[in-house]
Amino acid sequence: MAEHYFTEKPSSERSIKEITIDIRGIPFTFRTDRGVFSRGKIDRGTKLLIEAMNLDGVKKVLDLGCGYGPIGIVAARLSPKSEVVMVDVNERACELARENVRLNRLTNAKVLSGNGFEPVRGMRFDLILCNPPIRAGKSVVFPLITEAREFLEPRGCLLVVARTKQGSKSILKHMSEVFDVAREIEKGGGYRVMEGSASGGGLC
Ligand SMILES: C[S@@+](CC[C@H](N)C(=O)[O-])C[C@H]1O[C@@H](n2cnc3c(N)ncnc32)[C@H](O)[C@@H]1O
Repeated sequence: MAEHYFTEKPSSERSIKEITIDIRGIPFTFRTDRGVFSRGKIDRGTKLLIEAMNLDGVKKVLDLGCGYGPIGIVAARLSPKSEVVMVDVNERACELARENVRLNRLTNAKVLSGNGFEPVRGMRFDLILCNPPIRAGKSVVFPLITEAREFLEPRGCLLVVARTKQGSKSILKHMSEVFDVAREIEKGGGYRVMEGSASGGGLC
């Protein structure tokens, strides 16, 4: 059976593929690899989430399930005064994300390896960004959404991207059960970006 991208220690042979891409008008370089989500390209859902994210007034950002790092790295570049934390359970993804932070000359982003919110216990964020591991199933994705609430500052928000035909509806429903306000903020190319916040949350 093919290895999942959310394996802790991928065993597939390494095969680095470097990509350079303009996102929000800025060139970025990313090293990608086998055993890590979206080798050789930026995922369309990832791109939609990056286009939708608003970093005004944001000081602390979490990229949950960072993969090779595109979401957190773009956030760190667009918001140089904020501190970005990137987390992934896949150690190869974390290694690549660290390399990509260096390649893009960022000093305001760090990568922590571990399961879900475990590496950031005790921290609070203004913005949590997540392209969730849909293939791992609801039993993994829903608890991440539920837990996000306690890792947000009172005015903070969670942004989640999902394929329209692969769970976006049930994710939005779950977000509306967890958050005071849950709504769709962007759609395109078969994906939807959804936002969850406390009522009166105003940073998104
Ligand atoms: C759909 S990929 C998105 C990767 C990256 N953010 C992107 O957009 O290219 C989901 C990521 O979540 C990670 N992941 C899966 N389960 C996780 C968990 N329990 N805790 C942290 N990360 C997890 C996977 O290893 C994978 O890198």
